[in-house]
Amino acid sequence: VNVQTVHRTGYHFQPPMHWINDPNGPMYFNGHYHLFYQYNPKGAVWGNIIWAHSVSKDLINWIPLKPAIVWSKPFDQYGAWSGSATILPGNKPVILYTGIIDPYKTQVQNYAIPANYSDPYLEEWIKPDDNPLIVAPIGVNKTLFRDPSTAWMGQDGHWRIILGGVRKHRGMAYLYRSRDFKKWIKAKHPLHSVAGDGNFECPDFYPVQVTGENGLDSSANGPNVKYVFKASFDKTRFEYYSIGTWSHVDDKYVPDPGMVETWKGLRYDYGNFYASKSFFDHGKNRRIVWGWANESDTPEDDMTKGWAGIQLIPRKVWLDPNGKQLLQWPVEELNTLRTNHTQLRNQQLAKGVWNKVSGITAAQADVEVVFSFPSLDKAEKYEPCWNDLYAEDVCAIKGGLSEGGLGPFGLATLASKADGEFTPVSFTIFKDDKGYKVLFCSDARRSSTRKMEPKLYRPSFGGWVDVDLSQKKISLRTLIDHSVVEAFAAGGKTVISSRVYPEHAIYDKAELYAFNNGTEIITVENLDAWSMKRPQMN
Ligand code: FRU
Repeated sequence: VNVQTVHRTGYHFQPPMHWINDPNGPMYFNGHYHLFYQYNPKGAVWGNIIWAHSVSKDLINWIPLKPAIVWSKPFDQYGAWSGSATILPGNKPVILYTGIIDPYKTQVQNYAIPANYSDPYLEEWIKPDDNPLIVAPIGVNKTLFRDPSTAWMGQDGHWRIILGGVRKHRGMAYLYRSRDFKKWIKAKHPLHSVAGDGNFECPDFYPVQVTGENGLDSSANGPNVKYVFKASFDKTRFEYYSIGTWSHVDDKYVPDPGMVETWKGLRYDYGNFYASKSFFDHGKNRRIVWGWANESDTPEDDMTKGWAGIQLIPRKVWLDPNGKQLLQWPVEELNTLRTNHTQLRNQQLAKGVWNKVSGITAAQADVEVVFSFPSLDKAEKYEPCWNDLYAEDVCAIKGGLSEGGLGPFGLATLASKADGEFTPVSFTIFKDDKGYKVLFCSDARRSSTRKMEPKLYRPSFGGWVDVDLSQKKISLRTLIDHSVVEAFAAGGKTVISSRVYPEHAIYDKAELYAFNNGTEIITVENLDAWSMKRPQMN
């Protein structure tokens, strides 16, 4: 295979070639992070799925190992689909995954265990013969019955897992319990279900602390603990999460009052991010969430490129002190790749100004910036009809490519200004009778001068940012990596990742600008940018 390198990433997780999708079974074990992932060993399109495997000491530099789970037995002959790892008492990891047993995609749940617990890489995995552990009961669609979660233990000493599925258009998180991790019994009621939006994939359920940034083991519990429920909605290809409580009495997840599920709900990422999975890193006492970003060019492009799919940078995740959403931030280890620091201090941006950030490799960079403005008076009116739109539809009207009052302002990433090619990551601030609303956009519509073909996907991704503007400031961190723009607004309140394929803004031709398209003057208080080194990547 001839692998095209131009849009390959410099520091995001990729194997040397072929297709990847979901991150699977992430865990920290005896000093190593393990990442398994859905992989097609034969090509750059989805199919022939096995569990590929890499290990790392820092979540940034990756050593490839041989695949952990390949289809070979009657209980997984047609594919080894997504699943999770649980570390059992005695420091014994076990994997639960979905096996495909026939050409009709019938799904069962299997387990795999390390052949040698003292191998620091856990390279060899055994699939015992008493698999499968779980088959779909009568009345459950066995082709939509998959993606076992990490197990957690209740106060009764029984393990629990959830599985994704659907029942009469209701997304279902089926609950199973077990005393010995072998014999699993389906609970009468699902842990949670959501009407209307179809099948759940890759459900996740975990505790978070009410205060502080530390993570919790999946089985942790107590008075200062809330729960997060996340599912990937197959129908919209978006993920949603909510925050709530886990009721021990009836073994159900109850979202907090005011939590919205489905299309207006909270998302880890308002861009290209799917099939995410979290794990507790007991080495650093944090919870980490990992998501897959598919390509947004065409399958034909992927075959030409010889590769498709990346894993985004793992993010620390914790509860916002306001209790209403999560916060996310790239793992601190990423900073070890920073080099060639450059900065701007107190630069004023009048309307129409593009201020170039020089001195770094703008195609492979990490940029932190704080914008400020003298007043909120020039904020335009928020239109009530926007309540019925996705934020990305509002970005198509009011995002970085438009002109406004207070914003849009932000960064023009992967830019070639002379060619009119760039991906703006921007803020626009509006006012309504209740206060201010902050729109955050990552707009791919000008990301490539390549002719727009019907199948090319260039959305104007967007999300709202629930941030306090009393200081008249807002921050932005953006990870730029050739075909990736991963942007964190206001300290991780709202995150948008996008995949773009510039024709001109490649390698050292890529430029970076701070810009303002609004009438109010914006000050770049601090901008710190770094070139990013290449880690060891598989
Ligand atoms: C999500 C998903 C999972 C499934 C896997 C197959 O992207 O469809 O539900 O287990 O991918 O590769």
